[in-house]
Amino acid sequence: MTHASLTIILHEHRALSAMLRSILLLLGQHRRRGTLPDFGALRAMLFYVDEFPEKLHHPKESRLLFPKLRGHGAHSDAVLDRLDRDHARGEHAIRGLEHALLGFEMMGETDQGEPRRATFETAMHLYVRFYIEHMHIEETEVLPLAEAVLGAGDWTALDQAFLTNCDPLAGHDAVAAYQPLFKKILSALPASSGVGSVLEALAGAGAPKYAWPPLG
Ligand SMILES: [Fe+2]
Ligand SMILES: [Fe+2]
Repeated sequence: MTHASLTIILHEHRALSAMLRSILLLLGQHRRRGTLPDFGALRAMLFYVDEFPEKLHHPKESRLLFPKLRGHGAHSDAVLDRLDRDHARGEHAIRGLEHALLGFEMMGETDQGEPRRATFETAMHLYVRFYIEHMHIEETEVLPLAEAVLGAGDWTALDQAFLTNCDPLAGHDAVAAYQPLFKKILSALPASSGVGSVLEALAGAGAPKYAWPPLG
């Protein structure tokens, strides 16, 4: 797989996957300790998910890649329809997550704290499962289809369009304006979890060296 556009998709998937699983690890640690999480850090992490994957990654797929892959069979068209629906659903889901987090933050120290924490944790787990599965389908069905059916002209146009997008966690040119956000997220992650080093590796375009625990 040597096309720049496909490499970018895979790097962005790794970055999103690392960020989503970091949120779950952070929530799990605080639940076990009975402590409240750093809400500013959680807001920053959701902001990242909203800012890059939702606004840059998924539109690239839905607007640039998927239309070039339609018309190659009923099965693949149905898969693309499902993924397009996922993209639309993801944007809506982020608003729900942000609201659930706000409820947890505002009510965390009251007797509603526990149900509010549980509501946010449940919503976050569902979202993570949803997107891990979504990315798996893209990597096992859509990217192989692209390699099979696209021609040289298609790849040139796609690679050019994809290279103008950037995700600082996925190893493209870091955007200076987002460095404080990136540092805030990294500083909130416990050093012992190994999560920070994963995100640092992704920022340098390296492959994650951390074996993620299975989703609970
Ligand atoms: Fe997608
Ligand atoms: Fe994707």
